[in-house]
Amino acid sequence: MYQGNRASFGSKSGAILAAAGSAVGLGNIWRFPYETGNHGGAAFILIYLGCVFLFGLPIMIAEFTVGRRAKASTGEAFKAIMPKGCWKYVGYLGVLTGFLILGYYAVVAGWTLEYIYQAAVGNFSDKDPAGFVSMFQNFSQSPFRPLLWLFVFVFITHFVIVKGVQKGIERSSKVMMPLLFILVVMLAVCSVMLPGAEKGVEFLLKPDFSKLTPDVFLGAMGQAFFSMSLGMGCLSTYASYFGKDTRLGNTAMSVGIIDTCVAILAGLIIFPAAFSVGIQPDAGPSLIFITLPNVFQQAFSGAPALAYICSILFYLLLALAALTSTISLHEVSTAFLHEKFKLTRGKAARYVTGGVLVIGIVSSLALGMWNDFKIAGLNFFDALDFLTAKIMLPLGGMLTAIFVGWIIDRKIVREEATNYGTLRAPYYPVYIFILRYLAPIGIAAIFLNELGLF
Ligand code: TRP
Repeated sequence: MYQGNRASFGSKSGAILAAAGSAVGLGNIWRFPYETGNHGGAAFILIYLGCVFLFGLPIMIAEFTVGRRAKASTGEAFKAIMPKGCWKYVGYLGVLTGFLILGYYAVVAGWTLEYIYQAAVGNFSDKDPAGFVSMFQNFSQSPFRPLLWLFVFVFITHFVIVKGVQKGIERSSKVMMPLLFILVVMLAVCSVMLPGAEKGVEFLLKPDFSKLTPDVFLGAMGQAFFSMSLGMGCLSTYASYFGKDTRLGNTAMSVGIIDTCVAILAGLIIFPAAFSVGIQPDAGPSLIFITLPNVFQQAFSGAPALAYICSILFYLLLALAALTSTISLHEVSTAFLHEKFKLTRGKAARYVTGGVLVIGIVSSLALGMWNDFKIAGLNFFDALDFLTAKIMLPLGGMLTAIFVGWIIDRKIVREEATNYGTLRAPYYPVYIFILRYLAPIGIAAIFLNELGLF
């Protein structure tokens, strides 16, 4: 499938949808709100938006360039373009990063299945805010249930990867993404109208610059890479399936806008609701799982049937959004093993799935019975999240920017941006300037700032 006669997405909109499917996921609805909450709200969001436009979009186009030009998954793409030197290790680093992310991401994805189940059996209707907190704690700290759902989620991902992504994912994304979007807008409106919601809106929109610490910059940068699926070659692997006429700049812009809108809307659901029911915004990874069920109960208190249907639908769509993301992460490692070691796709996928389950089990137990085992003060789950999102992804993104900005032939970069001279690509000079100077220096500065070296 990968050599010679490579698969490709059916259409330009298929390419955008697949990339957006990878980008939109738990990063937007689960991770963005809790990172915003941990880092003080609106000021974090401003820095986040800066990172999306200054680093995210140009690096996304750079990743597209590498993938489409090399026609190989990221593990092999750097080597294909630049066989000499150490650049191939950037590809390998990406594969490792994606594999590690999938390990703990799949745990949270599994939680969404538990919540579909709990919503479906009607367990939300009789609970107050404190009830939802203890429901989440009992669930996430118990050893078996989260592992069960982890296995289910990883097997579904495995199944889709083995069966081939094109038809299923491309087609279902076309229905699912708009539906998710509508539901998110609807819930944001409901949440903003809850009693006492103004404080949450203020938290989200009124920046308090005294809260800007080095951690805020690192957190916002990490979140931008995580949410846009950047820094590990996920989108570059997808770009290897892009057609010749796919416009890289337009695609990046569309994906960036969709991804950012969903994240901001998720914030507009979570914070007004959290303040309304008195849950602290810095509750961490549990945040959406304790605030959201409340939104359904309170906003539709007069119409229990509506509350019931909306909560099931929401977790179902969240699970599907997570699925299109886990597929994209799984695909990078599977395609790498398939191309590099000439394994069949099925065998490659089995190795990846096995490895992911091991990391997933350890991450899941780290939230319960293994919580005392700490790495630099963090449990295994949080440590893995910190290492991948805040260090490995920005590092991978910086190296990709340097690779496309400085190392590869400028003619190639131009040809890819302009589709062999058939487009004007007016953004080109800015794009090159950012790749060469702004992104590498900016990312390095945020790292050094965090280390206190400024
Ligand atoms: N961006 C996805 C989300 O927001 C997660 C994801 C998919 C990802 N592929 C990635 C994160 C690659 C980092 C790198 O849920």
